[in-house]
Amino acid sequence: MWALRGLSWLSLLSTLTILSGGGVAAQNNTTPSQWPVHDNGLNDVVQWDHYSFKINGKRLFVFSGELHYWRVPVPEVWEDLLEKIKAAGFTAFAFYGNWAYHSANNGTLDFTTGSHDFTKLFEIAHRVGLYVITRPGPYVNAEANAGGFPLWLTTGAYGALRNDDPRYLQALDPYFSKFSELTSEHLVTKGGNAFVYQIENEYGEQWNDTTKKIPNDAAGRYMAALEDSARANGIDIPLIHNDPNMNTKSWSKDFAPGAVIDYYDHFKEVSPTQPSFFPEFQGGSYNPWGGPEGGCPGDIGADFANLFYRNLISQRVTAVSLYMVFGGTNWGALAAPVTATSYDYSSPISENRKIGSKYYETKNLAMFTRVAEDLTVTDRIGNSSSYTTNSAVEASELRNPSTKAAFYITIHSYSPSGTKESFKLHVSTSIGNLTIPRHAGSIVLDGHQSKILVTDFAIGNHTLTYSTGEVLTYALIDGKPVVVLSNGVGESVEFHVKGAKTGSLISNHAGLNATFYSEAHGVTTNIAQISGLSVYQFDNGVKVIVTDKPTAYLFWAPNLTNDPLAPVDQSVLVQGPYLVRSVSKEDGVLAIKGDIANTTAIEVFAAECEETLSWNGKVLQTKRTPYGSLKASIVASNSTIQLPALDNWKVSDGLPEKLRNYNDSGAAWVTADHTTTPNPTEPDTLPVLYVDEYGFHNSFHLFRGYFEGSATGVKLAVQGGLAFGWSAWLNGDLVGSFLGNTSLETGNHTLSFANATLFENSTNVLLVAQDNTGHDLRADAVKPRGILGATLQGADFTSWKIAGEAGGESVQLDPVRGPLSEGGLTAERLGWHLPGFDDSAWNSSSPSTGFEGAGIYFYRTTIPLNIPKAVDASLAFVLDASGSQAVRVQLFVNGYQYARFNPFVGNEKKFPVPPGILNYAGDNVIGLSVWAQSEEGAKVDVQLVTEYAVESSWSSRFDSEYLRPGWTQDRLAYA
Ligand SMILES: *[C@@H]1O[C@H](CO)[C@@H](O)[C@H](O)[C@H]1NC(C)=O
Ligand SMILES: *[C@@H]1O[C@H](CO)[C@@H](O)[C@H](O)[C@H]1NC(C)=O
Ligand SMILES: *[C@@H]1O[C@H](CO)[C@@H](O)[C@H](O)[C@H]1NC(C)=O
Repeated sequence: MWALRGLSWLSLLSTLTILSGGGVAAQNNTTPSQWPVHDNGLNDVVQWDHYSFKINGKRLFVFSGELHYWRVPVPEVWEDLLEKIKAAGFTAFAFYGNWAYHSANNGTLDFTTGSHDFTKLFEIAHRVGLYVITRPGPYVNAEANAGGFPLWLTTGAYGALRNDDPRYLQALDPYFSKFSELTSEHLVTKGGNAFVYQIENEYGEQWNDTTKKIPNDAAGRYMAALEDSARANGIDIPLIHNDPNMNTKSWSKDFAPGAVIDYYDHFKEVSPTQPSFFPEFQGGSYNPWGGPEGGCPGDIGADFANLFYRNLISQRVTAVSLYMVFGGTNWGALAAPVTATSYDYSSPISENRKIGSKYYETKNLAMFTRVAEDLTVTDRIGNSSSYTTNSAVEASELRNPSTKAAFYITIHSYSPSGTKESFKLHVSTSIGNLTIPRHAGSIVLDGHQSKILVTDFAIGNHTLTYSTGEVLTYALIDGKPVVVLSNGVGESVEFHVKGAKTGSLISNHAGLNATFYSEAHGVTTNIAQISGLSVYQFDNGVKVIVTDKPTAYLFWAPNLTNDPLAPVDQSVLVQGPYLVRSVSKEDGVLAIKGDIANTTAIEVFAAECEETLSWNGKVLQTKRTPYGSLKASIVASNSTIQLPALDNWKVSDGLPEKLRNYNDSGAAWVTADHTTTPNPTEPDTLPVLYVDEYGFHNSFHLFRGYFEGSATGVKLAVQGGLAFGWSAWLNGDLVGSFLGNTSLETGNHTLSFANATLFENSTNVLLVAQDNTGHDLRADAVKPRGILGATLQGADFTSWKIAGEAGGESVQLDPVRGPLSEGGLTAERLGWHLPGFDDSAWNSSSPSTGFEGAGIYFYRTTIPLNIPKAVDASLAFVLDASGSQAVRVQLFVNGYQYARFNPFVGNEKKFPVPPGILNYAGDNVIGLSVWAQSEEGAKVDVQLVTEYAVESSWSSRFDSEYLRPGWTQDRLAYA
């Protein structure tokens, strides 16, 4: 998908409009043009104009990324992720709420237990220094079950949803009010870090007719109700919205109709007096059922990040949030039917928390935008190939109207092209119009690549007149600028330092061909072929570090403050480790914290008074180089870890309900006796067998239908979402299965009873077991789950019973794991998946031995882990069905369902599980529910593997007992 102007990413591409842009600010002294400065009319802490956001009067480039706390339900892991986001130079992160995660029924809200307390995100954001974009919903989409709506809302009893129906508005009020109230303690107006608040999501419903601007009044009233609620609950920062695509043009105060050509023109039309802001730009792509494992990392990897994110800058975007920067996992019943277990999203930070080339590419651009102050106020001067000496390469020129600094974003003229192109660039600078490089060499675009080249770039009080290498970052160290440039290995770099008279190569770098040209306005340095890291000193105090790309990947600029803008005079420049999380002063030592996999050479550019470095608390033998940097070698502590084998399994029958004499009079079962339904979908037969209106919502549902005497078969229409499956047994004998299909959400079958035992003079019981994949998105969230129609041939059903999650929506047996954590299997209702359940009476047998015949068996084992404290280890389970196809498997880890392994419809085999869900300092209960949908039975191999294990200042071993409550006696009622 290499197309820039064609816009093929649809729902991933969204454009912001600021909802409540109020009055034009009275003063105009900071804006260099006619553009008004807005605030929300309540305060001027957050302002914005045509160019960018300002917080407390300071402009910023918002480089943000999305993560979902509810997809990684371990607050300690949020710290790891936010530290990684901060380290990458981001100034912000964004998150969606998930109403369903917090609300088990219409009288319950939980913002306190375990990871339901999302306010910890704000605390971590404050500590590490990131602004926050808060997006509570109430509808979020997010490819989450019902788009984040609680499933009790999907029955039809609350109307069509997402409008001004009083039933719906009343239902959302407790969640939305509380979310706002909790967030209001953490706003920038109160010294916190939350700076904008998004109401609703991808709700492009403002207009009945966009061209004629005829409004949809109901949508307007709904949005006004959300706005009023947010304000009433203390939200005094700007409210924003995330438009679903460029056609809806909703909710901007600026909007005037016209044609859309590209983002640049789109923003000009829809929101000219607001910053060009993408609240969701493609960070990757989710993993649909049947899609390739890991999304499409080939198409949306490091090259994608390099090219597409620079393209945004070429179109004057000054605020962008990558969706996702960390995708995580659809554990429990979080997923909507479109997504498999993984929500890896091919994100810069992988589902297993690993960082690699895509992270580094993104980091290098984010680090640049964080220090390129002049980029926050630019006009686009031009956009064409006439800027270059090679028609295959074009450039956009952005220029700051007051400082005259310019940014030339170069790219292949035909953006899908991956050729290697050399060119010179025509630039206009304070020392004249130049064609750069002027002395030797050329600029290179090598493959799917873009480069941002600067002119008159401010480095403190000095100026980099131009550079043919990209600026990675700069810092003011002891008041003097140290600027870091980067280009490809072996490429040339030419740059001009204004006001310098002489310059020299001061690092020891044999074979580097650097030439200095003392000219009228300064010194031009030309390096024919760069490699590694070299350092240049100029007589006016400017220092330039030139790095090749692999060196730049491992270059960091941690900050001594927790200011999200990372002031350049508080930055320390560090090269070497594969991750640098933070820097601080501890007992006269410059304490650097981060991760290394092997013994690593570290080089630090810091104030002259610094003499000694420490790494993760260990003081390093530090040497000062002749050119002033500090060097040391970090000996990696041993981070090898030993994993136990998964053996000593126990097994129990996980589907006793299929037997005729099973007793369904217990609390687990509800009589399905509704003859009418609020759901807009009419059932084919009665009684209504839609699970949600009986209070059962997640994953597994069991239906027992009774009839007397003889019947030859049954016609069943079952609905469970894309890729779902079902099986039916008559008096314990399998009569048929629907194995699942990635494009069908309903499975219809007429099943014969010819091969089943029938009690012609007595009662027969048909058991239908259904594994639903969640509720659909948007308006389809109310599509029912369960049996749409059940018709016997030769008899009539006399009654039906339904079982789902223990106690249904009204009883909360496991508030910590929350309302989406379990379904209606016997194993889940009785808590076999939980730590502390006593399986000593069970037989021993392994899932790799398996079983014959159709049924569900639950396997259980306990494994100890002992991961050292100074290590960050990432572990994953790998499942293999040994060739069985008609098998559906759920993996439970300490009570959390962390895999839906469906080899018939999916390709995902590896399932990362975060620390905290796993106990790294003790026992772990692993459960495996294996459902054979055919008489062949099933066999499943399970392995635990190491994704990575590195020495880290962030320890993956922490006290997480509170996230893993154990089995309790009250489970026994739900047999
Ligand atoms: C802001 O300043 C510009 C000149 O830079 C001027 O043209 C414009 O009218 C001023 N706008 C306001 C609202 O005062
Ligand atoms: C809450 O749900 C219960 C059970 O479905 C229902 O009886 C009740 O009317 C609902 N209350 C509100 C305020 O919607
Ligand atoms: C907009 O469309 C809705 C639904 O079709 C309709 O009820 C409403 O009256 C329309 N509003 C206007 C102003 O035409």
